[in-house]
Amino acid sequence: MEDRNTSNWDLVRKDYPGLERGTYVDTSSCGLIARSTEEAARKEQERLMMEGSARFMHWHGKGKADVVGLVARHVGGNASGMALLQNFTGGMARLAPMLKHRRKVLLVGGDYPTLHAPFKWNGFDIVAVEPAADGTIPMDVLAAAIQRERPQLVAISHVQWQTGFMIDLHALTELCRAHGTWSVVDITQSWCSVPIDLRRTPVDIVGSSGYKWPLAGFGNGFFHLSETVRTELSEKNGFDPIGALCEGHLDPIALVRLSDAVERSLAIGADAVRERLLQLCDLAVDQLQKAGVRVLNGTDPATRGGILIIEGDEKHLTKMREAGVQAQLRGAGIRIGIHFYNDEEDVERLVKALTSK
Ligand SMILES: Cc1ncc(COP(=O)(O)O)c(C=O)c1O
Repeated sequence: MEDRNTSNWDLVRKDYPGLERGTYVDTSSCGLIARSTEEAARKEQERLMMEGSARFMHWHGKGKADVVGLVARHVGGNASGMALLQNFTGGMARLAPMLKHRRKVLLVGGDYPTLHAPFKWNGFDIVAVEPAADGTIPMDVLAAAIQRERPQLVAISHVQWQTGFMIDLHALTELCRAHGTWSVVDITQSWCSVPIDLRRTPVDIVGSSGYKWPLAGFGNGFFHLSETVRTELSEKNGFDPIGALCEGHLDPIALVRLSDAVERSLAIGADAVRERLLQLCDLAVDQLQKAGVRVLNGTDPATRGGILIIEGDEKHLTKMREAGVQAQLRGAGIRIGIHFYNDEEDVERLVKALTSK
């Protein structure tokens, strides 16, 4: 089947100088920044250098509010529930103490360490569900655990960092709603690679860093709280949780990178990105399997974002690096992160690097 977006994707690719150095299949570790994003950031640096506090005041007011609105629009949330932060971990650490009246939290074994840690640091009652041997997290296992344990919070990543397994967010939010439990979802491994619309999938608390799939570089991220969450946290804690999450100045340059990257994501469109990733990951699974490389996680498109875990160790990784293919060891093997700026030739080079003698 011909890809009707071929020429567009070729054009998109040209904006990422990092792709000229080799084959980059490591967006799950760190996304490449576009040249145009870097240029926008440089212009902002220049303005800050020249204008000092006058420019800083812009970011204190309208500048920051514009980015809040943009990020809220991207995820289908409300600007009033949106807090921009330096990263996911900082947001989670600040948020957890505000959630302490909901003492019991359900976590998933192997999930991202700083999704778990703030609950440990703050003395929550923690119950854990283990993923199945194949890395999947079946909804009926979660449902049984929620029924049995009656947690008041369920904290989970949309896409798991070690397996790439993607939970059905819609089913999860419905399950949580049915039990009066709040869903707390880390979308750092899915934001800007998988469509997220909080109007259709009303996750109670959602947060992300911006340096992976959004391609926004470091020092930016967000948390979004639903109206219900904000009201309850205000009542229980005696202060506005969004105001508390937003305390402290952010780096305007990190906000410019975030804004530029999110604008691009909106312009390309979440569905087009999803389609592209499905196509490239399907091709990679097919070609790798034909070449005799085992794909340990990510063969099922319905539960996959942009991550595949393939069989391999340090030796294979070195071979890949020598062939100019960049990825990391994670989970049970080598983690491959494929984004919209990758193409069919990247897949070919990945397979060749792994199978050449
Ligand atoms: C699921 C998930 N959450 C969060 C992070 C990173 O969080 P932070 O940017 O706060 O270090 C990662 C990074 O690998 C991740 O995979």
